[in-house]
Amino acid sequence: MYPDALVRLTEDVLDRSAARASLIPSAAPAGVGPSKLKGVSAGLVARTANLRILGKSPLGIYLRIAEGVWDALPASLKGLPPAIAYGRLMHALVRSSGQRQQYFGTFFVRNRPQLQLICRLAGEHPRGAPLRVAVLGCSIGAEAYSLAWAIRSAAPDLSLRIDGVDISPEVLEVAREGLYPIGVAELANEPLCERLTREEIEHIFETEPRGLRVRPWIREGIRWQVGDLRDPAIGDVFGRYDVVVANDFLCHMDPAEAGACLRNIARLVAEGGHLVVSGVDLDMRTDVAADLGWKPVTDLIEEIHEGDRSLRRSWPWRYWGLEPLDSGRHDWSLRYASVFQLGGAS
Ligand SMILES: C[S@@+](CC[C@H](N)C(=O)[O-])C[C@H]1O[C@@H](n2cnc3c(N)ncnc32)[C@H](O)[C@@H]1O
Repeated sequence: MYPDALVRLTEDVLDRSAARASLIPSAAPAGVGPSKLKGVSAGLVARTANLRILGKSPLGIYLRIAEGVWDALPASLKGLPPAIAYGRLMHALVRSSGQRQQYFGTFFVRNRPQLQLICRLAGEHPRGAPLRVAVLGCSIGAEAYSLAWAIRSAAPDLSLRIDGVDISPEVLEVAREGLYPIGVAELANEPLCERLTREEIEHIFETEPRGLRVRPWIREGIRWQVGDLRDPAIGDVFGRYDVVVANDFLCHMDPAEAGACLRNIARLVAEGGHLVVSGVDLDMRTDVAADLGWKPVTDLIEEIHEGDRSLRRSWPWRYWGLEPLDSGRHDWSLRYASVFQLGGAS
């Protein structure tokens, strides 16, 4: 079957069955894709996702075939509106059916534009008081070290304190040591340095027989702490931070648990401070941001959105995949920002 026929067929089947049951209006409002469909229609998606025939998931089989077809399409075709609409539909189904699990995957300078924006915010911090940064779900340390390197390079006169927090003592041991292989790192199972230039590698690391060790001036002022970010008591344990970074672990939680965890994490942000949160279900983040009155920081919003290829390239076939930015949505800045100011004046 040709891809566009497949798109129409899938959309028609879901739209007509939902409309027949008066679950959703036959035409959703502009900018509101299937991922935004709520209530009973979400139930329909979930029922479709959970359907089993002779122990097999027809949806699972369909998704595998559709992914193969999608992969074979040229990029120009995948950027057309019908393909994007189809992708949104597939992503809604994948998110409903995907078994979630945590990973330790990480990279140095994972999202370069996001790092640039954090450096700009750090540069505005008043000198005299240390800038307090929390890197939550820090895995083996690449993200915290990237931040320390970038902020200290951009603002050498700033006093910087970073707390790296993770639920796994095993990854924190690696983070504390700050010694990494040149290729794929164990635990993270990713080539940690693939997003760095040769000059950056030389700037960040000393070469040792066992690998690359983060230089002492970057390691300074970083503490590594075990913590479960779902625990409502974390606010009392960790205090408040000017910048809280919470990337790429909320998407691996069940959406309800992730929402509660995000609200919990927000309590760690000092009045007027910033929360950086990507790798998260966009519907959930938008709802929480709107509910708690967060102010989206729109600088570099499109660059940051495209800045982590692991997320963008996984859409729509992995639950953690990040949809294409739709600037036609009425809520686009709240939906696509990954940096927010919480409380206080800008
Ligand atoms: C995929 S890694 C992301 C690493 C890094 N933040 C990045 O974006 O590259 C997710 C990390 O979050 C940690 N994590 C998952 N659930 C957590 C929780 N409830 N509390 C603290 N850390 C958690 C995992 O142990 C893992 O190291």
